[in-house]
Order: sequence, then C-alpha cells, then structure tokens
Amino acid sequence: MTRTLRIAMNGVTGRMGYRQHLLRSILPIREQGGVTLADGSRVQVEPVLVGRNAEKLKELAARHDVAHWTTDLDAAIGEADVVFDAAMTNLRPATLAKAMRQGKHVFTEKPTAETLEEAIELARLREETGVTVGVVHDKLYLPGLVKLRRLVEEGFFGRILSMRGEFGYWVFEGDIQPAQRPSWNYRREDGGSMTTDMYCHWNYVMEGIVGQVRSVTSKTATHIPTRWDEHGKEYTATADDAAYGIFELETPGGDDVIAQINSSWAVRVYRDELVEFQIDGTHGSAVAGLNKCVAQQRAHTPKPVWNPDLPVTESFRDQWMEVPANAELDNGFKAQWEEFLRDAVAGRPHRFDLLSAARGVQLAELGLQSSAEGRRIEIPEITL
Ligand SMILES: NC(=O)c1ccc[n+]([C@@H]2O[C@H](COP(=O)([O-])OP(=O)(O)OC[C@H]3O[C@@H](n4cnc5c(N)ncnc54)[C@H](O)[C@@H]3O)[C@@H](O)[C@H]2O)c1
Repeated sequence: MTRTLRIAMNGVTGRMGYRQHLLRSILPIREQGGVTLADGSRVQVEPVLVGRNAEKLKELAARHDVAHWTTDLDAAIGEADVVFDAAMTNLRPATLAKAMRQGKHVFTEKPTAETLEEAIELARLREETGVTVGVVHDKLYLPGLVKLRRLVEEGFFGRILSMRGEFGYWVFEGDIQPAQRPSWNYRREDGGSMTTDMYCHWNYVMEGIVGQVRSVTSKTATHIPTRWDEHGKEYTATADDAAYGIFELETPGGDDVIAQINSSWAVRVYRDELVEFQIDGTHGSAVAGLNKCVAQQRAHTPKPVWNPDLPVTESFRDQWMEVPANAELDNGFKAQWEEFLRDAVAGRPHRFDLLSAARGVQLAELGLQSSAEGRRIEIPEITL
C-alpha cells in the first residue's frame, strides 16, 4: 500500500531549494518510489513548486516532470500535507507559522528565524499544534561527521579536550568574476551574515558530536566591504563575512571542552575539504571533513621535537589512518528528508526540531552580541 504526501516547496528556485532539496532529495525520493515505513508500506512524495516567478516555476516543473506549480503560497499551504521552506530567512517565520496553524507538517531550511524571540515562538507553536517539524541539520548527516560522531560514541578519544573547525573559501566579489553566493548573504538588512548563517550549523554540530554549548566568545569582521550583485551592480556589504569563535562545551559526562571555529568567505583553501573539524582527546585525535575522516590513536602518536634549525623530515599527514564508512552514506539532505517523512507519517517529533533550531539562532545572536560588546557570553538554557 502506498500513500502520497503533497509537499509544497517554497523557495524552490533558490540555490538550496533547487539543488539540495528538489534535485538531490525530493526527486530522487520520488524516483525510488518514496520511502518505506516500519510496517513495510510506502509513502510517495508529490512536489508542488512554489515561488514568485511563474516563468521560472513553469520551466522548472517541465524540466523535472513535476505536475504542480503555483505562485500562490497560501493556496499551496492549504492543499499541502507537508510545507517546505527554503526562501529567504527573513520571510520564514511567517510561512512556518501559517503552515503549523493549519496543522501541516513542516520541513525547513535553517536558520528558522533572524531573532531568538521569533525562533522560540515557532518552537512554542509546534508544541501547541503537535505537528511534526524538521529543521535541516545537514552537516550531521555528512559522511565525515557521521564517522566522527561514531568515534565519540565508541569512546575513541578518551577524555575530549578540544575541537577545532575551519570553514570557508573565497567568495568572489562579483566585479570581474560573478559571486558564487547570493548577494543578500552580504547585506544585513536582508538577513545576511556569516554568523547568522553558520552559527546555527555549528551549534548542532558541537551539540550533536561533543556536547552542549555553554558560552561563546566571538569576533566578526566584514573583510570585503564592497561587492557586486547578480546584476553587476556595486553594493555595500553590511553583513559580517567572517566570524572567529571560541565556544565552551560540556559533554554529557560533564567534561569541559573548548571549541574554536573559524568561518570565513574571505579565505583561500589549503585544506582537504571546505569544512574540517578536529577533535583532540587523551586517547586519540581525529579530523573530519565533509566526506573523509582520519584518526590517530595514542599508540600511533609520533613524538615531534621542536627544532627550527632543521627541515621537517616526517610527513605528519601520513601518520593518520582513514576511518571507514562501513555503510552506504547517502546525500545528507536526502537522508534527513527520508527520516523526517517517516516521522511525519507516524505523527511523532523529528529529532532535529524547532527547539534545536532556536538554540542555533540563539548562538548566532549571542555570537553577534559577543563581538559587538567584545566579551564572553554565557548561554542560558531555552525553555518553552
Ligand atoms: N543548509 C545549508 O547548508 C544552507 C546553505 C545555504 C543557505 N541555506 C539557507 O537556505 C535559505 C535559502 O538560501 P539560498 O542560498 O538558497 O538563497 P537564494 O537567494 O538562492 O534563494 C532564496 C529563494 O527565496 C526566494 N525569495 C526571495 N525573495 C522572496 C520573496 N520576497 N518572497 C518569496 N520568495 C522569495 C528566491 O526566489 C529564491 O527561490 C536561507 O534561509 C539560507 O540560510 C542553508
């Protein structure tokens, strides 16, 4: 027996909405005949493309053999079983609230709101309405981070001491070579900001791999003050394009861990992947990127001796062993969609919900405050 869920996909002409959610998640799920539930039955998906530009939607629908598209968001919400949102962040709370009030399940991009207050209101509304809400926590589904998490669960690290993250790449200014990210990302008034964009990810990454984030000390910068938009027009970048953060974490066992994460769109990559996290513990260390994870055990740890007079003779990178996947790890966005669809059909909460998302928005907000005030800020627990 197969039932079909109608999924209103708002913001589907955007970068994330199109590439990750339509192309790499919903269409492949439709193609494979939906998802299988615990009782062996299947749930198929039927996307409805929603946006402002009828021409774009029509073309997209034809290209991917999608029967339904509309520019009427309200009507789409009314007829949907699941409402998905990947439009601009500042428009999100209104869309999500409308969907939940009509009893619709919701799957959404992050951040769920620009302010903590709005993010908490959304989490409260979910409790009131009882619908299933999933918020994209894609980084936790990346093969590299899945392996890193497994090492933590296996006790590989002993006592975890620290975590370091390096994220970023050069985003072109747009004058000579077009920028590879939307211009609103660099305008604060349109919801842009490295901190707003990435700290909600880093919150669930730290929480999901090591432990709760207890404090933040952050310094933001707008390294590139002038950029050129999609139409080649010069504009002033009003949002931070880099954030340098220190976070104090607490593991479930009560250990304190220090995390440092650099995030920058004004940095050139000398790494294996665009994001990398290193965890150091008393018994071992590991470095994970999007795909790969390498580890070094205490017994395999070399003993370097500091001597600036001699050239380095050993290859430090060769002293690490690759951690195998031991499973087929699908695209992270698709994997989370499938998990969410099963939760929605079962009418149970999804593990990455609006409360976790609110903690992410909180970390971003307090990160910006820490930078503005030049001080460390403790993170209060959110209660609904
Ligand atoms: N999970 C991730 O790793 C990740 C990465 C990047 C962005 N995001 C999030 O995804 C969302 C979209 O980001 P993006 O990079 O795809 O941006 P984008 O600019 O490419 O897409 C935004 C979408 O919103 C639509 N939109 C813009 N203004 C609108 C309006 N007034 N009314 C209705 N629709 C409007 C656009 O047409 C487009 O479809 C953001 O919330 C962003 O924070 C998540």
